[in-house]
Amino acid sequence: MCGIVGYVGARPALGIVLDGLRRLEYRGYDSAGVAIVCDDELRTEKRAGKLTNLEKAFGDERFGTGTAEDTTTVDSTCCPAPVGIGDGTAGIGHTRWATHGGPTDRNAHPHLSRDGRVAVIHNGIIENFAKLVAELEADGVEFVSDTDTECAAHLLAAALADLRAAGEPEGPRLLAAAMRRVCQRLEGAFTLLAVDASIPDAVVGARRNSPLVVGRGPGEHYLASDVSAFIEHTRDAVELGQDQVVLITADSIEITDFDGAPALGRDFHIDWDASAAEKGGYDYFMLKEIAEQPQAVADTLLGRLTESGEIMLDEVRLTDQDLRDVDKIFIVACGTAYHSGMIAKYAIEHWTRIPCEVELASEFRYRDPVLDRSTLVVAISQSGETMDTLMALRHAKEQKARVLAICNTNGSTIPRESDAVLYTHGGPEIAVASTKAFLTMVVACYLIGLHLAQVRGIKYADEVEAVVSQLQGIPDKLRQLLASMEPVRQLARDLSTANQVLFIGRHVGYPVALEGALKLKELAYMHAEGFAAGELKHGPIALIDQGTPVVCVVPSPAGRGMLHDKIVSNIQEVRARGARTVVIAEEGDTAVARYADDLIYVPRTPTLLAPLLTTVPLQVLACEIAAARGHDVDQPRNLAKSVTVE
Ligand code: M6R
Repeated sequence: MCGIVGYVGARPALGIVLDGLRRLEYRGYDSAGVAIVCDDELRTEKRAGKLTNLEKAFGDERFGTGTAEDTTTVDSTCCPAPVGIGDGTAGIGHTRWATHGGPTDRNAHPHLSRDGRVAVIHNGIIENFAKLVAELEADGVEFVSDTDTECAAHLLAAALADLRAAGEPEGPRLLAAAMRRVCQRLEGAFTLLAVDASIPDAVVGARRNSPLVVGRGPGEHYLASDVSAFIEHTRDAVELGQDQVVLITADSIEITDFDGAPALGRDFHIDWDASAAEKGGYDYFMLKEIAEQPQAVADTLLGRLTESGEIMLDEVRLTDQDLRDVDKIFIVACGTAYHSGMIAKYAIEHWTRIPCEVELASEFRYRDPVLDRSTLVVAISQSGETMDTLMALRHAKEQKARVLAICNTNGSTIPRESDAVLYTHGGPEIAVASTKAFLTMVVACYLIGLHLAQVRGIKYADEVEAVVSQLQGIPDKLRQLLASMEPVRQLARDLSTANQVLFIGRHVGYPVALEGALKLKELAYMHAEGFAAGELKHGPIALIDQGTPVVCVVPSPAGRGMLHDKIVSNIQEVRARGARTVVIAEEGDTAVARYADDLIYVPRTPTLLAPLLTTVPLQVLACEIAAARGHDVDQPRNLAKSVTVE
């Protein structure tokens, strides 16, 4: 996930683009860059690290001629900022969250054509980039980055050259025509923006499965990943549809489909102001990240299945034979990541028949686990820097076990030290409470389970495809679920004065109960406990008092019937002792309705995949209870996003 901005108008573009990037930095902040058209030339600048590194590179120049405010000095021997960049009135900018290629100056966007006259920025993943790179290299193109994006710059330059050679008239529409040709070659998800030095008064954009909105101002227009980038200039916007190309000049917006047929966007007015923009219009990063879950799951699944139906991992330094030799799996992780591992255990054992244990990373090495060459250790971490998990990983490697990492942060330590990696493409998670990272880690675990089952000959390609296709249905179900959260918000206000909240579940619903309780503890500072529903009668049921809220995660009645019946009995047990039952059940489960004081339905889905849905109301509940209690939702007390001490 990256942030993208484009501007054309009468004002200096650089400052506007940089301000827009500042508002989009939540989308990624491992490098940033701009390309500004001035004096029939392209001026580009890009820097690894946060946006501030790039801003420093411009010093006074960002304000255009004669309006210096920033007197910061930088080492101009590295990449001196070109003269005049602050005066150009058309440009594009990018803030990156790396997927292909590490977070370096070289891999930062924009990417340029060979002659440096065309610049492209990109959000998404071009799935067929390897094939396109091979083709372009055969034509003599030398790539200067490790990104999937660079091929789009070379393709766009080639398309422009072909159109010019065919006698097409010069001007903005030439740029749009060339972009359409490029889009027809690309597979995957992308938002692309581009400028051409020879067409100084236009920016072109294109969108497939990745966001892009247009901002309308008087005598100027904007393109951006979201409206927060231009909210301080205009509140009138146009949402583009899928597979559309948009061409903006100072006075016009032209939208077509990828074949060139005229198309329409959806006009809308933004009813919030610039102060909310850093969070994309949400009150908290956590709410925004909850809302991003459909896209995060979709992105994590994107491009995982080869044409022959095999699951693709990202960096694999293990052979198929290594994976066939695995006779035992340990999953090590902390906190929310640990809960994702607990869910994985059910799926992995069911699909592979390999014994799988889940361990708190902080305990793993101290109990001297039995590890050897045929043990696979799966280390799960959003940040990739959690010290407990890193130490568990190192211990496993010392014992000669193989280590596979699931991680959301490209290039971090845990994936770097592992034998294989599967990155979740959840995008940057800023709120301390993990939400979208949790869902994407669960998805990644499923993919690993399927991969192992396939390599070991336990599942055929069509069986794997069937599960992947069920997974691909999850983003839509998440959207449907997220649209129905208002009753959960009301319930949260009601529960915000409770002394404690208990959570119960069975099978994969048990880790969901633990996760629900963790979210409530860390955000609302309330006593909250998760239990395996069957364990209640062995002690915890004594906690239940008149009105104690008990959140019950109920499995599908269509799955294992016995599971459903057992938890319905547990719900009756707690109700008989005065509990207020908050039931999370599958749509159409009328049998459980009569035992629910509050009932939250989630869309139907196979039992093993249900945590991808049942967790969501619990995230919303915790977030809203914390807000109702007046807590800082994004930065709860005593916690940090990345825990780099043991
Ligand atoms: O970066 P990691 O996934 O390794 O972090 C692990 C835990 O610290 C983390 O999941 C923590 O429990 C969350 N803040 C909970 O929401």
